[in-house]
Amino acid sequence: MIATTARKARPAATEDEAALEFVTDVVAGLEAKPKRIPSKYFYDTAGSLLFEEITQLPEYYPTRVERGILTENAEAIAALLPAGSALVEFGNGSSAKTRIVLRAASELSAYVPVDIAAEFLEEQAETLRHEFPSLNVLPVAADFTRAFDLPASLRTVPRIGFFPGSTIGNFEPPDAAGFLRLAGRSLGAGAVMVIGVDLIKNEAALHAAYNDAADVTARFNLNLLARINRELDGDFDLDSFEHRAFFDHECSRIEMHLVSRAAQRVSIDGHSFDFAEGETIHTENSYKYTVESFRALAREAGWQPIKVWTDSDGWFSLHVLVNETANPSAS
Ligand SMILES: C[S@@+](CC[C@H](N)C(=O)[O-])C[C@H]1O[C@@H](n2cnc3c(N)ncnc32)[C@H](O)[C@@H]1O
Repeated sequence: MIATTARKARPAATEDEAALEFVTDVVAGLEAKPKRIPSKYFYDTAGSLLFEEITQLPEYYPTRVERGILTENAEAIAALLPAGSALVEFGNGSSAKTRIVLRAASELSAYVPVDIAAEFLEEQAETLRHEFPSLNVLPVAADFTRAFDLPASLRTVPRIGFFPGSTIGNFEPPDAAGFLRLAGRSLGAGAVMVIGVDLIKNEAALHAAYNDAADVTARFNLNLLARINRELDGDFDLDSFEHRAFFDHECSRIEMHLVSRAAQRVSIDGHSFDFAEGETIHTENSYKYTVESFRALAREAGWQPIKVWTDSDGWFSLHVLVNETANPSAS
């Protein structure tokens, strides 16, 4: 049994590093041609709350369909978690889907949600501690695209990875393989990972999911500019940018952009950036896979696919992978 400790998800020093990295990435991204900003910066507390709203939209099938797969197979998923193991979730958000697994798996020694949205993560961890009083909840505020430390108390405990939400689709495919290799190193040889992956489907359904009638996705996208104004002394006029999302067949991905409605100059942290009318900032990709194309990517990254569940329409997939790389560096 792991001792329960009230620990901060993110120490103050790494808070300063995160702030410096944010301004560096935004300035570099807006100096690039075409302009782009990494999608991980959507997720401050306001962005995390907006994403929660998205998950409840009728058009946003990924959450609804993945929840259905998790609910139907909760017992089988719980059987993958040995008694005393720790569940490590990458990008947990509100942990809404995790609750389905946590209710089915009673013998976990710890739940370790890892997320970049530090404040939101602390709040969600506190809510979970009340809901699951016997579960040791150990949040880690970190960018999971880089190596990060898991709590030291997990060193001798088997770890299971959980990565729902098709967040893996936000990586370029080679970076998705890089993420899987890194996750393999932190989970250890022989570890199991359960991972949700969105599938290629009819374009109308894809388009609607990222262009909802209530404009919540537009507000989520524009919050990136609001966040830059709040945290980096930016002067974006939010009314002069608009949301655009479309499916690119060739790349098999949804692209999300913010489009400048006019020629304008924006200043951020003392730097100036010129926008032409119609120029965009590319803010997110969401790659769609087939079951086989994702399995091939997992194999390339050292993970053996052992099981996949999909819904009856074949819209979403939940994969079980086993880490096949010999891995003495896991800590
Ligand atoms: C698409 S949401 C999915 C949330 C939840 N897993 C679900 O299935 O509804 C992506 C989540 O990953 C987190 N995230 C995105 N990029 C991240 C990164 N580089 N490092 C850590 N967390 C990240 C976000 O804060 C957010 O909670």
